[in-house]
Amino acid sequence: MRIVALGASGNAGREIAVLLGPGLVASDELVLAGRDPAKLARSAEAVASPASVTTGRVDVTDLDAVRELVTGADLVVVTVSRPDLVKDLARIVLDADADWFDTMLSTPGKLAALQALAGEIADAGRCFVTDGGFHPGLPAVLVRWAAGRLDELIEADVFAAMRMDWRADTLADSTVAEMFDEFADFDLVAWVDGESRRLRGRECPSVDFGPPIGRKACVPMRLAEMDALPGLYPGLRRCGFYIGGFSPAMDYLVLPVLMGMAKVQALRPPAIRLARWSFRRLATYPPPYRLVVRLDATGTRDGRPATASVSVQGEDGYLLTAAPAVTCLRGMLDGSIRRPGVHLQASLVDPDPFLRELAAFGLDVRQDTSG
Ligand SMILES: NC(=O)c1ccc[n+]([C@@H]2O[C@H](COP(=O)([O-])OP(=O)(O)OC[C@H]3O[C@@H](n4cnc5c(N)ncnc54)[C@H](OP(=O)(O)O)[C@@H]3O)[C@@H](O)[C@H]2O)c1
Repeated sequence: MRIVALGASGNAGREIAVLLGPGLVASDELVLAGRDPAKLARSAEAVASPASVTTGRVDVTDLDAVRELVTGADLVVVTVSRPDLVKDLARIVLDADADWFDTMLSTPGKLAALQALAGEIADAGRCFVTDGGFHPGLPAVLVRWAAGRLDELIEADVFAAMRMDWRADTLADSTVAEMFDEFADFDLVAWVDGESRRLRGRECPSVDFGPPIGRKACVPMRLAEMDALPGLYPGLRRCGFYIGGFSPAMDYLVLPVLMGMAKVQALRPPAIRLARWSFRRLATYPPPYRLVVRLDATGTRDGRPATASVSVQGEDGYLLTAAPAVTCLRGMLDGSIRRPGVHLQASLVDPDPFLRELAAFGLDVRQDTSG
């Protein structure tokens, strides 16, 4: 297999390569690609693999260079934070007759670009997996896990919170821009009372994540994987993904300013600087670090009320990103979950083996059912 990792000089790309490497075989080739040769060399040094691990310098705005690099690839892993280029990159990957996997945030523009190619992708027998990682990527897996434990799901809210070092100085400008574009798109919509609607501020839940995170006010965040669930489980009255705030100063002072600035093209450079500064000063915490993604579900089993809870936790945000991604990638590579078409990671994977793999990668997976 020839695997090309676009964005392997970045945080998520490097960790994915590190976790993927040991499972490859000597005949495989892993090409770590990005703009910065020094960062790529550091990524290559971190990968222990029987496969041939090489680096390739490419700026993905140079589509001819991307085309040349992915020629002969079987799989292209995209951790480049350029959702605006997905239409072109996906076309190149499809024309190269390769599969696709990306971790970019779950934005309507990215998903529409991939869906526009869905028919051609399926006809070509290729498998394109999007919304990989932990958010997006994990919340709907947790709901599907609970659906396997309960006869009927009634409430299935997923909560996430983070106490971490955002490594703001290491992020590409496009990654910072992608994050504040996401804040600008926040619409506080979730599935509540059996319908999709905008929550009022006082309806947003306050959730205790335990130490060292503690209690956090959470707001709903749209994820495509969650939108699909009420259609699958018609008994659902509540089903949303809620994310905990960064800090009061970040949430109530800086984010509203960033959301305004994000809408004005000319203000993007200062907005990127402000976002980077505020991630470093107002959203980054000292150790101990913790990231938690937790589902609390209610429903029925054997005609009686029942509950199912599951959480995935870790201390390293990039392990929490890469472990789900690599679990899915392994299933694509060995064919066990590979199906032609465009898929969300969270809809494609099988929840029970997926959670077992996350635990094997060192994440703390806790499950509990009652009733
Ligand atoms: N689903 C999840 O759970 C999850 C979690 C974390 C991150 N993410 C997403 O994953 C992506 C990567 O995140 P990250 O934290 O790893 O960001 P990062 O550290 O900033 O990495 C971004 C990568 O994109 C590369 N890049 C940017 N523009 C490029 C260009 N024009 N040509 C070639 N390479 C380019 C960067 O290369 P340089 O090194 O040259 O700048 C870097 O390798 C982002 O889209 C982020 O939103 C998802």
